[in-house]
Amino acid sequence: MYVLGIESSCDETAASIVEDGRRVLSNRIASQVPLHQRFGGVVPEIASRAHLEQIVPIVDGALKDAGITLNDVGAIAVTRGPGLIGCLLVGVEFAKSLALARGLPLVSVQHVAGHLYSPYLGRETDAWGTPVTSPGEFEPFVGMAISGGHSSLVLVRGPGVIEPLGETLDDAVGEAYDKVAKLMGLGYPGGPLVDKLAAAGDPKSFQLPRPLLNRDNFDFSFSGLKTATARAVEQAGGAEALKADEQLLADLCASFQAACVDVLIGKAKKALKGRRLKRLAVVGGVACNRGLRAALRERLTHTQVANPDPEFCTDNAAMIAGLGWHVLKAGGTSLPSLNATARLDLTAGARAWQL
Ligand code: KG4
Ligand code: ZN
Repeated sequence: MYVLGIESSCDETAASIVEDGRRVLSNRIASQVPLHQRFGGVVPEIASRAHLEQIVPIVDGALKDAGITLNDVGAIAVTRGPGLIGCLLVGVEFAKSLALARGLPLVSVQHVAGHLYSPYLGRETDAWGTPVTSPGEFEPFVGMAISGGHSSLVLVRGPGVIEPLGETLDDAVGEAYDKVAKLMGLGYPGGPLVDKLAAAGDPKSFQLPRPLLNRDNFDFSFSGLKTATARAVEQAGGAEALKADEQLLADLCASFQAACVDVLIGKAKKALKGRRLKRLAVVGGVACNRGLRAALRERLTHTQVANPDPEFCTDNAAMIAGLGWHVLKAGGTSLPSLNATARLDLTAGARAWQL
């Protein structure tokens, strides 16, 4: 069955066609980065308006790329939350109207649960290397969802069946990347820029903290690291002085990145050991980080690490269509009264159909 997925929780309008929950036929994403760049962050009102403008062409494009029409679609899946309410509303109301007009079942998906489903997606094989046409054994794994809006460490027992282990107590790791980049006078979004500069720097040049690394839990905290980096920027003479000294800038980026990587990998290792699991999946925008990817390969040699393709790591609708198929199979059709919700618990992914 072909499921049309729709995602509009933040600054990406996305639509995708996924067959039987695994095989991605199309994955259209309209990024709003250029619209928000000059503000140094996502402006909710601008984002909602852009979703309104993009949603019809993006859905059309996803159908066209997949070589199908609406007549071939078996169900519609949409992100219900969490996210920016004005943005979520565009996707949810559009999906509800389309489902009603075409007489199609509608299912809702929790956004982070969607991210945690992304390792099972692919065009030929999934992120574990299994052909996407195989019936699909869903072995449990430790999942780390890291992006601009969330930093969660979880145990994934099956599609959408998630046991939370730990969460950030303050900033999300992507948010810390973006804020630190801003302090250093770099552009937006800061994550990819810091990542690129870090490659040329010495990660030992600045002594930065590894918050909560040695605590006996799975929670994260990135605001202290952000403050320590801000102090280092000040001591270096501010953003202008840093810009004038390419090596110093690269060194600070590398030191910040090393602190993030140490904390993320340290907690993931602890979860793998504690749960005696051999599979780890890292998803969300920060999972694109090259320093993190390299460190995962080097430091987790006895673990099967799934790093989904960047197109499935950042916000996308394939993960919504994919998990949506399982929700539908479990009988989780949503009612026409379905509402977008800015705050939605991660475990709602497992029982999205009851909401
Ligand atoms: O998943 P995503 O597209 O959106 C949500 O936040 O849900 O993630 C975007 C976040 C931004 O904070 C961005 O700076 C960060 O992911 N990011 C990165 C990299 N690429 C994107 N952070 C570090 N290194 C990267 N290469
Ligand atoms: Zn996301």
